[in-house]
Amino acid sequence: MEAVVTKRLIIRRVTETDLLDFLAYQTHPEILRYMPTEPLTEEQAMGFLARQAVVEIGDEVGYIVFAIHHIDDAKMIGEVGINLLPRVQSKGEIGWSLHPNYQGRGYATEAAQVLLTYGFAHRKLHRITSICDTRNTASFRLMERLGMRREGHLRQSQFIKGSWQDEYIYALLHDEWLAQQSVTADE
Ligand SMILES: CC(C)(COP(=O)(O)OP(=O)(O)OC[C@H]1O[C@@H](n2cnc3c(N)ncnc32)[C@H](O)[C@@H]1OP(=O)(O)O)[C@@H](O)C(=O)NCCC(=O)NCCS
Repeated sequence: MEAVVTKRLIIRRVTETDLLDFLAYQTHPEILRYMPTEPLTEEQAMGFLARQAVVEIGDEVGYIVFAIHHIDDAKMIGEVGINLLPRVQSKGEIGWSLHPNYQGRGYATEAAQVLLTYGFAHRKLHRITSICDTRNTASFRLMERLGMRREGHLRQSQFIKGSWQDEYIYALLHDEWLAQQSVTADE
C-alpha cells in the first residue's frame, strides 16, 4: 500500500527512523495494560522496525504494521496492523495502538478505516476480525465504530499479567464493509 493521506494523518509503512516515537507508545504502561506482552527493549524495537521496513507488501501471509503519522506534529503517534492468513482463507486480523497523548480524538478510527480499505479493497479479504480483552472498552468501542459485529465472548482465552482473561471477538465481512461504503458515499 502506498502511503494514504487522510484529513489529519498519513498511514504509511514504518521506517527505522520511527524508533523513538515507536518506543514512546510501545513501552507505555497504559498501552500494555491489556496485552500479554512486556515492553519492547530498544534492540527489539529496532529489529521489529528493520524487519517491517523490508517486508514485501504483496507477501501472502504475515503481520504488516503501518505507522499512524500525525501531519501537524510530523511524527508517528501509533500503529495499525493486520495479520494476513494464507490467501486461500482470505482472512485477516487487525489491531492498533495509539500513544495516550493522542487518544480520544478519533485518530485510531481514521487510521483503522484505511486499514479496512487495505484489507478488503487491496488484499481482497473475505473476512476481517479483531480480538480484545473484555476490559478493553476503548478497543471494542473502536471495533463498533468501524461497524464490526461482536461474534463471541471467549472465556479465559488469554493469560495477561498473571491471570486468565476473557476476550471479545469482532468481525466484518467484505460485503458488509462494501455496504457501509455506499451508505457513507450517499451521505
Ligand atoms: C484502542 C485505542 C487505539 C483506541 O483509541 P481511542 O483514542 O479511544 O480511539 P479513537 O482515536 O478512534 O478516538 C475515539 C474517541 O475520540 C472521540 N472523538 C473526539 N473527536 C473525534 C473525531 N473527530 N472523530 C472521531 N472520534 C472523536 C470519540 O468520541 C471517542 O471517544 P469515546 O470512546 O469516549 O466515545 C487506544 O485506547 C489504545 O491505544 N489502547 C492501548 C493499546 C490497545 O489496547 N490496543 C488494542 C489491543 S486489542
